[in-house]
Amino acid sequence: MINMNAKYRETVEAVAKQIPFEPEMCIVLGSGLGDFADKVETVKSISTTSIPNYPKSTVQGHQGYLHFSNYGGKKLLIVQGRIHFYEGYSLSQCALPVHIASKLNCKKIILTNAAGGVNPNFKPGDLMLAISFNGVNIKSELTGLIGLANIEQKNSFLDFPSSEMNNKIINAALEEKISLRQGVYWLTKGPSYETAAEIKMIQKFGGDAVGMSTVHEAYYSASVGLKVASVSCITNFAAGLSPNKLTHQEVMETAEMVKKDFERLIKKTIELL
Ligand code: HPA
Repeated sequence: MINMNAKYRETVEAVAKQIPFEPEMCIVLGSGLGDFADKVETVKSISTTSIPNYPKSTVQGHQGYLHFSNYGGKKLLIVQGRIHFYEGYSLSQCALPVHIASKLNCKKIILTNAAGGVNPNFKPGDLMLAISFNGVNIKSELTGLIGLANIEQKNSFLDFPSSEMNNKIINAALEEKISLRQGVYWLTKGPSYETAAEIKMIQKFGGDAVGMSTVHEAYYSASVGLKVASVSCITNFAAGLSPNKLTHQEVMETAEMVKKDFERLIKKTIELL
């Protein structure tokens, strides 16, 4: 098992030396949602290429920066540079931004992502709050893969996703009059999009949205004591639910379309938290 503390001590120290403040809340930006970082006051941006052991982001729509920003009187760490399993990185590498956030004393984290709509009532442009991830039985598998120390002590009652955070996000949507779906976010490993048959299976298991990130990050967050929530931008009908072939271009275009609502929702949430 990888010990995140030992493996990434140098990484955390390099970031800690440069930070303008200890962030209280972290926001990880998903595919096509990176612009959010420009909508708040940036105090300092650290390029992830300058951080030792930080994996290179290879996906279009994911720039590599850790931004230290202010909004609504809150000190934020905004991660623009998510690391994906399908890029060839291990789950412990994927969890590195969360590890850094927790070591800098962040207490809350919002993971955002682009996802395919599996629930037939969902349409591109919808926003979805995760009420669960892949059912419940992926957790013990992730424990070993991510490399959590002392997981036994922390594993008994993980509030995952955090009910407090989810309630705030629901209230933020109500206040902003944004229609917010709620559902189960389902992780697939990628890199290719799912087949229609796989989507049928995920539907049967109760998945509402499908994507290639977030679940392991959320699990790591909760395990190290961060309150975590996940907001998905439904960028497309999942495979088989529309006659069109799914492309990364479509994902980026829908994210572009919905980014105003996304920005309002996240900003209001930050204010309420
Ligand atoms: N499947 C997996 N990941 C995704 C999708 C999808 O349909 N859309 C955006 N990310």
